Amino acid sequence: MSCSRKLYVIFPAAGSGSRMHSDKNKLLMEVGGVSVIDRTLSAFKKFADTKDIELNGVLVVSPGKVAWWESYISDKDYSSIICAITEGGDTRTGSVGNGVAVLEDYDPSDDDPVFIHDAARCLIDIDSITRCLEVITEEDTPVCVSGVKTKNTIKMVRTGSSESAIVESTPDRDLLYEVQTPQCFKYRVLSDCYSEASAEGYEATDDTALAEHYGYPVKIVEGSYSNIKITTPEDIVIAEALLNNR
Ligand code: CTP
Ligand code: MG
Repeated sequence: MSCSRKLYVIFPAAGSGSRMHSDKNKLLMEVGGVSVIDRTLSAFKKFADTKDIELNGVLVVSPGKVAWWESYISDKDYSSIICAITEGGDTRTGSVGNGVAVLEDYDPSDDDPVFIHDAARCLIDIDSITRCLEVITEEDTPVCVSGVKTKNTIKMVRTGSSESAIVESTPDRDLLYEVQTPQCFKYRVLSDCYSEASAEGYEATDDTALAEHYGYPVKIVEGSYSNIKITTPEDIVIAEALLNNR
């Protein structure tokens, strides 16, 4: 098949899944009979096939587990979208940074779109991926992140300690978004952000926070309320209910 466009995706999959409280890697747990990781990677394969895109995916896995993952991926339908498997770091920023470093081998152009998508967000839909890609390729925007308006009222407290959770303020709910992945960057901006963050030791739980930190505009693109992250045991139940409703 000839592909008209090329893009890159970094899949961070090197977390310890501590909030799942399971001996099993949460990415190998099944949701509706299919593992979390298989669902995530299959969704991107379907996106690439539907849009006639050559997708180069970098899977970032726990240290010491590269060979295991190579074997796991090798006989899967989606194996064609994984071009490299590399080790992650202790933090998410470190893991994504390792993925960004691998991209250099593929000689991307400055404006090539690079997605970052949590391996743990296995209900990702093609429309959310498409909306991010359109912003990066069709608008003068270097960074975007999918997000949904928060449904709850959020309180800002004075300190992070739960014993002294005294409310500081109640931000206007209309201005609050819960961000998700996918996130998408133009390659050069992503690479520059991670080089600077590595030099400075700057860490964030969200990749676009790095772009904000270094002064790039970040656009929020409509995500999906069903694009949940598999984090705690009840997320498996919720994900199965959402799948049954598709
Ligand atoms: N991740 C990663 N490297 C890390 C930490 C997280 O690649 N050092 C990845 C996870 O594998 C996951 C995604 O980032 O796909 C989102 O992280 P999260 O849901 O927090 O997963 P874990 O860090 O594995 O879970 P926990 O925080 O409960 O330990
Ligand atoms: Mg985590």
